[in-house]
Amino acid sequence: MRAPFRAPMEGLPARVTIYEVGPRDGLQNEKTVLPATVKAEFVARLARAGLTTIEATSFVHPKWVPQLADAEELLGRMERVPGVRYPVLVPNERGLDRALGLGVTDIAIFGSATETFAQRNLNRSVDGSLAMFAPVVERACAAGLAVRAYLSMCFGDPWEGPVPIAQVVRTGKRLLDLGCDQLSLGDTIGVGTPGHVTALLRAFGEAGVGTERLAVHFHDTYGQALANTLAALRAGVSVVDASAGGIGGCPYAKSATGNLATEDLVWMLSGLGVRTGVDLAALVETSVWLAAELGRPSPSRVVQALAAELATTRAAAGQEAAGPAAERASEAAPGRSSGPPAAEQE
Ligand code: HMG
Ligand code: MG
Repeated sequence: MRAPFRAPMEGLPARVTIYEVGPRDGLQNEKTVLPATVKAEFVARLARAGLTTIEATSFVHPKWVPQLADAEELLGRMERVPGVRYPVLVPNERGLDRALGLGVTDIAIFGSATETFAQRNLNRSVDGSLAMFAPVVERACAAGLAVRAYLSMCFGDPWEGPVPIAQVVRTGKRLLDLGCDQLSLGDTIGVGTPGHVTALLRAFGEAGVGTERLAVHFHDTYGQALANTLAALRAGVSVVDASAGGIGGCPYAKSATGNLATEDLVWMLSGLGVRTGVDLAALVETSVWLAAELGRPSPSRVVQALAAELATTRAAAGQEAAGPAAERASEAAPGRSSGPPAAEQE
């Protein structure tokens, strides 16, 4: 399969941990609600493709996010690969009660840098949501769970406009001070640009929060997610959130589209010589398969470019075409069966 020419840049981490959010952030905003069996297969395929952190689902109110209402059933069906972490979103103690006892070892709480989104997403003010999270983090830590915190609307908010950096840093620190291990900075509506990312990370550093405690979470609404990721890597971040095939968005944020596609990220990192441990071909096959399940092509550029090539290679090798998946692949990328010679792949 085609691969990028490898040309490293100085000052980047040698390895990046991809925090895969497709089964949660991706599926929570798709129109098609997949059965738990298909979700379990999705998670299993992601693990087989080499992803080591796969956010599986959410224990939120089922009426708020019906797409993930089957969290208990999914956890019952999911095979766990040793060495792979399967975090779940938990907003409150009710969510924690549901998750405990199902083999969950990692949870994520999710706060907002703005009042409007806190109200719309959590039905509370920023202070009210921190009060809701405090006992969750305390009990989760006491039970030995790892706790991540998300902070949404770190760059702009559809109702409030640009979000001041000082406001983001203040709320981010409050989330970390609850006892969370990691803070993921969310560009929920994808309006950030690289200079803004650099300034935000610098401000966190000046406030005593180093990049080793930070992750980045970019939605790709304006096509800035990869550029923003590169800016974050240059500032020292080595945990990057991404969603296989670029699916998803946030149901409670107007204009939030899919996350940075994992395939696009892996392609760039592979070109930069940064290790991820992810098998790009296996991941593309997963996204092509998922696109058929969801009934819409993957928005990822790398999936579109490579899927048709994979299908053609298969057909040439006399293997059975992958049915709807292969059709979906050729619809997504007509005529893309040849290209420049493949560079060495990881
Ligand atoms: P609420 O209505 O204020 O809840 O919702 P409440 O505490 O007042 O309770 C009302 C009823 O809901 C009670 O039932 C509770 O038991 C029940 P009743 O006594 O009336 O029969 N309830 C629950 N049931 C099941 N599971 C629960 C639960 N909690 C309460 N966990 C709540 C508050 C936080 C629950 C609600 O606002 C909610 O579920 N919000 C979730 C929204 C969401 O999932 N958004 C998407 C994820 S965030 C995101 O995508 C952004 C991110 O990707 C980063 C980025 O991009 O920026 C992370
Ligand atoms: Mg998100």
